Amino acid sequence: MPYTTFSEAKIKSLIDAIENDGYAVLPDWASCDQLEALQTLVAKSVATAGNNYVALSGNEAGAGTPLHEWANSRDFIELCRRIVSSAMGQQSTELALHQTLRCLTGDGGRRESLIFHYDSYVLTTIIPVCMPQEGETGDLLMLPNRRPLRRNYVLNLLDKLLVDNRWVQRRLIRRFASQSEAFTRIRMLPGHLYMFWGYRSLHANLPVAHDALRATAVFHYHNVHGNSSLAGRVRRSLSGFKPPQQQTDATQS
Ligand SMILES: [Fe+2]
Repeated sequence: MPYTTFSEAKIKSLIDAIENDGYAVLPDWASCDQLEALQTLVAKSVATAGNNYVALSGNEAGAGTPLHEWANSRDFIELCRRIVSSAMGQQSTELALHQTLRCLTGDGGRRESLIFHYDSYVLTTIIPVCMPQEGETGDLLMLPNRRPLRRNYVLNLLDKLLVDNRWVQRRLIRRFASQSEAFTRIRMLPGHLYMFWGYRSLHANLPVAHDALRATAVFHYHNVHGNSSLAGRVRRSLSGFKPPQQQTDATQS
């Protein structure tokens, strides 16, 4: 990656863009070689999944590829830490990124699209790996910065429950159809890095055609309620029960 150190002014300009425009971009984050390596991983993963939707998560996913390299990059983690610390008004001490490689294609890819949600992590960063060039381009859609960082896990849960139901999801899709200008729509380019407040922004991706492929490397930083004992109990009780819309929560971007 061409970026290693960032001046205070650069960090501030990234935060200003996230606050004012809903997102910030670092162009050409990935080199051609890195992009090629990830495209090879995507092709292999999609073929293994029967040319359907697949998501690889966790620290071991993508071992030996730039996915693993970035997730463990001190420069990348430090960049996220500095941005998030300013948003939280206090130093973030998290030392890791949560990574996912999402590959959307086929029926599964369409089912996993247009699901509006809030992430559990303060900062969401996305590096597109494969994006359709024409037709349905799988753009990122958002209503930026719609909620504050909740200090209380129960309020966070309420925010999520208010969105995670068929009625509200349909209403949001109808609103996008009739009032698309109300949404921030980002046509993402492979290799660039996009960042936004995933926790605060209601977001989803637009679908791609059945025979098209949309793959993104997603890195989340700072789980707001990661230390909440109630959050832990809820996660454990949900671990054996995952309704369709909760399977992609916090990762769909
Ligand atoms: Fe997300």
